[in-house]
Order: sequence, then C-alpha cells, then structure tokens
Amino acid sequence: MASSINDHADNKVSNPVASSNTSFQTLCENRYNRRGFLRAGAAVGAGLAALGLSGCADQQPSVEQAKESRWRNQNPYDSNFDFVEIEHGEDAQHHVAGDHEAQILIRWGDPLSESAPAFDPNNQTAEAQLQQFGYNNDYVGYLELPARRNQDARGLLCVNHEYPVAGMMFPNFPADGYQKITAEQVKITQAAVGNSIVEVVLKDGVWSINRKSPYNRRITALETEMEMSGPAAGHPRLRTNADGSGKNVIGTMNNCAGGMTPWGTYLTCEENFNGHFGGKLSNSEPEARNHARYNVPTDYTRWHLHDKRFDVGYEPNEPNRFGWVVEIDPKDPKSKPKKRTALGRFKHEGAETIVAPSGQVVVYMGDDQRFEYLYKFVSRDAVDLNNPKRNRDLLDHGTLYVAKFYEEGYLEWLPLVLENGPLEAEFESQAEVMIEARRAADLLGATPLDRPEDVVPNAKNGKVYALLTNNHKRKETDSASPRTENYFGHIVEIAELDNDYAATRAYWDVMVQCGNPNVPSHAARWNERTSDNGWFASPDNAAVDPSGRLWISTDQGSKAFMTGTADGLWALETEGALRGTGKMFFRVPAGAEMCGPVFSDDGENLFLAVQHPGDHGEPGQARVETAISRWPDFLETMPPRPSIVVVRKKGGGQVG
Ligand code: FEO
Ligand code: CA
Ligand code: CA
Repeated sequence: MASSINDHADNKVSNPVASSNTSFQTLCENRYNRRGFLRAGAAVGAGLAALGLSGCADQQPSVEQAKESRWRNQNPYDSNFDFVEIEHGEDAQHHVAGDHEAQILIRWGDPLSESAPAFDPNNQTAEAQLQQFGYNNDYVGYLELPARRNQDARGLLCVNHEYPVAGMMFPNFPADGYQKITAEQVKITQAAVGNSIVEVVLKDGVWSINRKSPYNRRITALETEMEMSGPAAGHPRLRTNADGSGKNVIGTMNNCAGGMTPWGTYLTCEENFNGHFGGKLSNSEPEARNHARYNVPTDYTRWHLHDKRFDVGYEPNEPNRFGWVVEIDPKDPKSKPKKRTALGRFKHEGAETIVAPSGQVVVYMGDDQRFEYLYKFVSRDAVDLNNPKRNRDLLDHGTLYVAKFYEEGYLEWLPLVLENGPLEAEFESQAEVMIEARRAADLLGATPLDRPEDVVPNAKNGKVYALLTNNHKRKETDSASPRTENYFGHIVEIAELDNDYAATRAYWDVMVQCGNPNVPSHAARWNERTSDNGWFASPDNAAVDPSGRLWISTDQGSKAFMTGTADGLWALETEGALRGTGKMFFRVPAGAEMCGPVFSDDGENLFLAVQHPGDHGEPGQARVETAISRWPDFLETMPPRPSIVVVRKKGGGQVG
C-alpha cells in the first residue's frame, strides 16, 4: 500500500470551524434530494433572489442545462475517447492503453547537465543531488519552444518534487534512521525537493533530455534564493534572524501541483510545509494560534535537527515564509523565483489560470487538507499577452476569494479583503489576512470540503472542475447518506455566472461520486455506462487536452486496498449522454500515485509523473529493501525511482 504523505502528515484536522460552517457533504445530500426542483430552475431562482440576484438565473445556462453534446461524435453514445482501455489491478509494472506506448523520460538522480555526476544511490551527496533530477515528481508543466532543424518538437518540462522519503532514498537506512538522520542526509533531502526545469526534445518519435540546454535548472529547499512579493512581503511576521527584511527566503518545499500562466511562467505550490518544521513553540509565542491552524510543527523530515531555521522554537516566523504559490520564469534561468503572497497562505495544491472576458487573470486553487476550502484569485489588471514582461507583477495585485456553497446549486466567492466586515475586527492589515488566509476564510463562513486538490478550468466548455479527493473523517450525524465517511472522493463542476471566470457567483454540480459503483457500500455515482474499469477513486490531478477532454489522475494513498486497483489516469466524459463515464488509460506500479498529466500543444504527447513507486506501509517505515516495486530499473542495485513518463499513440496522432 502506498503511504502518501498527504494521508498521514496531516491527518489531524486543524480547522476548528469545520463543524459549524455547513459542510459540503450536507449540501450535496440536500442538493440531491432537491434535484427535481433544480431541473425546473425554481430553487436556483429562489436562492439567487435571496442573494439579491433575481433576474440573473433565467439568463444563465445552469450546469444541468448545459449537457447537450457539443463534441465531434454524432451518436450521443459514441465515446470521445478511442483508446483500448486497460484493466484495474496492481503489480510492479506500469500499464498503458494497448494502442499507445510509454517511454521513461527522466528518473530521479538523472544528471541535468553534461558535467553533473551520474546517480550513485550508495554514495549520494547534496552537491550531486543539486545537479540531478529531484525526488517524488508531482506536477508537470510543458512550455513548448520552437523546434530546431531535425527535431520534431522541443519544450521545457517544469516539474515539482514534492517530498523526500529518506527510507526510500538511502539504501540500508536503519530502522531508527529518522532519529539518527545525518546532516548530509538532511541536505540531500533538501536538495532533492523543489523543482526541475529541463529541456526535452522529440526526434523520430523518441523523447530525450537535452543536457546541454542553458535552461536546465534545479530549484531546491537547500539553497535557491527567492523573493517574497505582494501584500505580505516585508511584514514583521515574515522576518527572521537570517532575514531582517522579511523579503528574502531560501527555498521552496512540498511543491505539489501548480500551473502554467498564459505569459509563460510556472506556478509551483507549497503544500504540506508543516511536515518540515520541528521543535517546540513556547506557550507565549504569538504565532502559536496561527501555527496550530496549519499543524505546524508536524516534523517528519527531521530537518530541524541539523538546520535551525526549521526549528520553530528558534525561528517561529520561518513557517510564515512557506505555504505560498511561487512564480518561476523557466525561460530565464538566472531569475529569482517569487512567492506571490496575494494568492494567500495555505496548503496549496495547484494554481491553474485562465483569462476572464475582461482580461483579468483568474487562478483557481485548492487547500488540500480535510475540511479546508476552495479559493480563487482575480488579478486587478488585465493580462497583456503580446508583451509577457508587462505581466511580471500581475499576481501581486488582485483579490483572493474563498467559496461558500449553497445547497440550491450555487456558490458565492467571498473576498478575503481587510475591509470585509469580520476581517477588519480581527486583522490589522491585508498582509495578515494573507498570512492567515485560513483563519480569515473561517471568519467569512467558507464551506469546509473533502480535501480540495486540483481545480482546473476548461476553456472549451467554460466549466471548472474541482477534485475533492477524499475525507474519511467526515462525520455527519444529521446525514442519511452512506457517504459521510468519504473514502473515495468526488468531482464538482462549477459554471461561473455569465461565463465570467472573474464573477463572484457560480453554479455547481457533483459530476461523479467516486468509488466502485458495483459495491453498494461505496455509494458511488457514475454514468451507468461506465465500464468495469472506468471508475476510479481519490481524484487528485486533472488535465484538459487540446480538444477540451478531461483526464483525471488518482492518489488513493493507503486506501488502495479498498478498490483493488493501483492509481492511474482515466479519461472522463463531461458532455452529452456519456457525461460521467470514465475510461482507464494508464496504471502506475504498486505503491505509486499518478501525477502531473499534461499534454503537448498538439495533443500528441502526454507527460505523466509516477510518484513514490514501491512505497509501502506507514511513513517512516518504508525502506528500499522492502519496496513493493523496483520500478523503473528493476535492479537489485537501484532503489525504485520516481520518474516522468511520456506517452504517444503508436504510429502517431492524438493521444487517447
Ligand atoms: Fe500533494 Fe494534495 O497532494
Ligand atoms: Ca496532489
Ligand atoms: Ca497526491
């Protein structure tokens, strides 16, 4: 069984208002019970009237009304996906749809330059790791570059390296290895996380790394200098012994998902940063309440033993410098990454952007912990797509919103601005609202959700897909639903009012409730035409391909045994008669989760991240020697290696 750190590092619920803000589960149940009204439009109209929006409802296509097929197939029951589906299951290998082929493109430890040392897992050093591809690849972005002569395609991969697992990185790591972790091992794990930017080239149907590329770069928790920007930059609560300005910070970590902006930069999201902090806070520490809201310190990496800035007793403000969205310019390898504090501080899963009709940029974001919230940021200024440099500080000015769901099928985006009633009484500045975004959202009555992961807008149909991965700790005593303990997650479809991504109202609908539809206790809801292998559990990352089709990757963590299948990638129909039908495309080796689906601009290449292959048991117990897969090398001398896979259709053409 996989031991995704998401399962464990955070299994304490840290939201004290989870039970008082009406939960999404309750809203869903009530909503299902009222579907008859919704179809007639009456409940939506009444609800919007209560919000002072009467008249709008009639003009808006509701999500449920927008199901007419606008796709290429004439027969409404013809699938939009032509590939040969694979089967559920679990073994040490990966599996891809039969009419496609998968190539391992880059593995943890692969040198990123011609001068970088070859990977030697038994003699790894921090210096070597700084020049090699990092560990636990999660998000993958692809920025297309013009192909050179005799190349078929060329681009930059922007890859997140989420978290280290010392027991799976160091062969013969002792049973008490985490108690005795060495200073060099801490440095190696700090060098193994963060990001990689690497140029990749397609030639004669085969992808490879260009090790001579000037763009290749590692960004790490160990030594990369970054700048804080936006409303919280320089605030006293961001100042430390090492940085009296509160504007300069070393590194990024726990980079989970992210997004690419329309102006060609890369957003990488700091998620479970709490796991890297140890030590003890004094009872009089002013940050104590703030840190409790983020489960700081959780301490599973043990960094604080050899790096004092991760000891909250010594450096209580250091955690305030993590939990942000970081913007990186992959085309400028010397550029300093910027932490964009206007996007709020929480356990950021992803940050997918889209341009609203006004030209303002909208960034959709989930806070991935049980009973946390869904957010979006709307830029103050319009994007200038003809002049990318003019967007350099676009993400420093704008409004952060948090979602409040209503059972009648609409939601409100509530602004996290100081002037907003309850916030003015509680915070002294907008900087503090951003630093404690979670507590600000609590005060506004945001709706606690079941671990919001990727939130992905689809420009082709105007909808936004929010992946709520699971939350088995949900207990609703007032509920008749069998889904109170949500082990399998669900996907919510959002349609913004007036098809305007910058709107402050939207409609929502549950598209699928995941799990096995053949097992009554799962209480899964799928289109009845979903095949035996088409259903999945714990949706985590999503991609929209160039045709506008939706793809979902999963991370069941330690709960894979409940479904009998490893994680993978599924295609998911969103329109027409087959809406809510899944189809299995790729399966990861045992112990891994599937991350980072992203397509090349022509849809002919699909990049996937296989994270923590072979991982097993509780965190802290997984070891190389007992790994349940040695993917992808299958050598006695090599640990399992997180790697990027690229998939192409045999003979070429659109993937899927
Ligand atoms: Fe890092 Fe939310 O998964
Ligand atoms: Ca994730
Ligand atoms: Ca995950």
